[in-house]
Amino acid sequence: MPLHQLDEIITGRRSQPHQLIEVLHDIQGKYSYISREDMQLVSQTLGVPEIEVYRVASFYKAFRLKPTGKIVLTICMGTACHVRGSHLILDQAVGQLGVPPGEVTSDGLFSIEQVNCLGACALGPIVKENEIYHHHMTPGKLRRLIDTIRRREMEGK
Ligand code: FES
Repeated sequence: MPLHQLDEIITGRRSQPHQLIEVLHDIQGKYSYISREDMQLVSQTLGVPEIEVYRVASFYKAFRLKPTGKIVLTICMGTACHVRGSHLILDQAVGQLGVPPGEVTSDGLFSIEQVNCLGACALGPIVKENEIYHHHMTPGKLRRLIDTIRRREMEGK
């Protein structure tokens, strides 16, 4: 991230060390993940030891420390979705995309994430395509969704 953009984020947070989590949240909101360089800049600017910045960023599962694909498929593995077969949904995603959760496909298009609840338990299994919720998901529906996204992206839509 360019330094002036980090300055904007931190200035907005009044440069207080206790604002570390909020600053990391803002960085991720803007860039989708928090890079090593971002953590170093945050450390220097807030006056928080780099190890502490890393500890906080890696402790909270909500923070991503690696880049994501353009499309993040977030698969709910919470209890309500699990009993309706979310593990089969995850198997479909991993098998079709050829990457485990947390990795990015070689074309940079997809990555898979797992979460414990997306707050729509009655409609599970739930898969989120970036910010779009897909409910009552099945392996077949997910296969078609991934194919549709690929076609859409290849056509530049
Ligand atoms: S357990 Fe999947 S949405 Fe709550």
